Amino acid sequence: MVSLDELFSAARAIQERAYAPYSNFKVGAAIATPSGRVFSGCNVENAAYPVGSCAEAGAISAMIAAGESRIAAIVVMGEGENLVTPCGGCRQRIREFAQPDTPIHVAGPNGIRESFTLDALLPFSFGPDNLGIR
Ligand code: THU
Repeated sequence: MVSLDELFSAARAIQERAYAPYSNFKVGAAIATPSGRVFSGCNVENAAYPVGSCAEAGAISAMIAAGESRIAAIVVMGEGENLVTPCGGCRQRIREFAQPDTPIHVAGPNGIRESFTLDALLPFSFGPDNLGIR
């Protein structure tokens, strides 16, 4: 079982590596799997703006590349006054590998600021079960 402290630290560490020269808005994400592993990712922007990718997408790619496919919890770490909740696309990306009650913790530099369930952020969602998978 991965502690929330460990997940927070992983998100903070990867946030520093974000490549965000256009927005100057660095984001880090860390996923805990039920098997106790941690996978992290950061946003990677691009001169062709729409090609950039979110921190959550990077963390999910790392998880899948390692042969894992279940999200037990995720921490998203950003800066600023407003909560850095996952964007709409990333809510759907998380949905693919999580459960309705999977916690999504939103953090700032000083710690976890607020925690949501996936279902709270993406109600009435469409997922693998709609297509008869899982
Ligand atoms: N960003 C993320 O990485 N995750 C989110 O959930 C919100 C937004 C990134 C994308 C872009 O590089 C920067 O934050 C500003 O939108």
